[in-house]
Amino acid sequence: MDKIVIEGGRKLKGEVTVSGAKNSTLPIMAASLLTDEESIIENVPNLKDITTMVKLLHSLGAKASYENGTLTVKPGKNLKPVAPYKLVSTMRASVCVLGPLLAREGYAEVSLPGGCVIGARPIDLHLKGLGALGADIEIQHGYIVAKVKRQLRGNDIFLGGNFGSSVLATANVMMAAMLASGKTYIQNAACEPEVVDLAQFLKKMGAKIQGEGSPQIEIEGVKHLRGARHSIIPDRIETGTYMVAAAVTGGDVLIKKTAPEHQNALMDRLAQSGVRIERGKDTIRVRRNGRLRAVDVTTLPYPGFPTDLQAQMMALMAITPGISVITEKIYPDRFIHVAELNRMGSRIFLEGNSAIVHGVKRLSGAPVTASDLRASAALVLAGLVAEGQTEVHRVYHLDRGYEKIEDKLSRLGARIWRAKE
Ligand code: UD1
Repeated sequence: MDKIVIEGGRKLKGEVTVSGAKNSTLPIMAASLLTDEESIIENVPNLKDITTMVKLLHSLGAKASYENGTLTVKPGKNLKPVAPYKLVSTMRASVCVLGPLLAREGYAEVSLPGGCVIGARPIDLHLKGLGALGADIEIQHGYIVAKVKRQLRGNDIFLGGNFGSSVLATANVMMAAMLASGKTYIQNAACEPEVVDLAQFLKKMGAKIQGEGSPQIEIEGVKHLRGARHSIIPDRIETGTYMVAAAVTGGDVLIKKTAPEHQNALMDRLAQSGVRIERGKDTIRVRRNGRLRAVDVTTLPYPGFPTDLQAQMMALMAITPGISVITEKIYPDRFIHVAELNRMGSRIFLEGNSAIVHGVKRLSGAPVTASDLRASAALVLAGLVAEGQTEVHRVYHLDRGYEKIEDKLSRLGARIWRAKE
């Protein structure tokens, strides 16, 4: 396996172009199963998770190929609606094939995804929503086995849990409701831009959807969906990671081909901490000359501060004078980066689902390991400002979600490269 090596201390300067959103692409790939016709998906990032989803589509019997940012999917008429443990266990998002398979085939077997390093990740809301549409669901030998007697029926479904709305449960129920009879209302639907992007794709396929991006989505079932062409929205988490990278190094970076309107929560926190932000139509310029100020951050469903940027923000607060409190309301155990950041000299203490960050003057480079995607990104950001050399091990995680991260950061002036373990 590879590792990423960083020599810290360089200010980032220049321009970086954001890739298409991984978390939009994955459910849209699943949605393409709702028809037997060909769909073309553009602006798709070249990432490990996308390759895993291509493998899953193949194992379901669909044709799928990826070339230069464009994915072509042709499900054909004969799908085998079984998503095996081997693939679902490497990528939790595979669970979003459940809704489309059930809608199209009336039957689906999808391995239970299980937990992951960021804590328990139940799927009760997915099952509740599909059950409300009339699916008969059982757990057998580690698999969700879902059947429909005749046809799914529209319903009024409240899709909130203890931690608020769910992005992929909203996606799954939306996709299942596409071919159901009558109307479906999803209450407490996730409002994330990736849900809106999925709805845009489904509409191009012929779906009747209203209210996407709000907590109530209305769907009128249709008899047939067709293949569609769609371009994926910019990745807001990748954007946010480069915004924090500019701030943490005291640099000046223009982020291009992004969607500034998806970045309000992070822009607010960065501006409060003394970072200068200039917003263009599809660009964001992030600059910092002076000292940073400590700010508190609480993760919440969109449009709140994203949990997927919590670790990166913590790397910034780690070198900010004062004390900041970072509270995690989506995944209360998502703090595995704390111990690794502390190995680099930060002073972060955990108190329930909050991290109390005492800013230090400097971090010192160290070998570090992270076992989740965004935690790995936070360690890279810490490495960019640390004195000396940082080695981030298990790069596998970064490759799941960041396209060419070492190339993009190198072009901004960072000293960063990939090496063999
Ligand atoms: C998606 C993102 C992930 C992000 C997360 C929260 C993808 C591929 N992944 O994951 O990067 O961190 O949104 O923004 O889009 N929950 C339940 N029951 C359920 C489902 C979820 O209790 O059936 C809880 C979860 O444990 C969590 C919260 O709801 O506390 C939000 O999770 P959810 O929005 O479902 O995350 P994902 O869609 O899996």
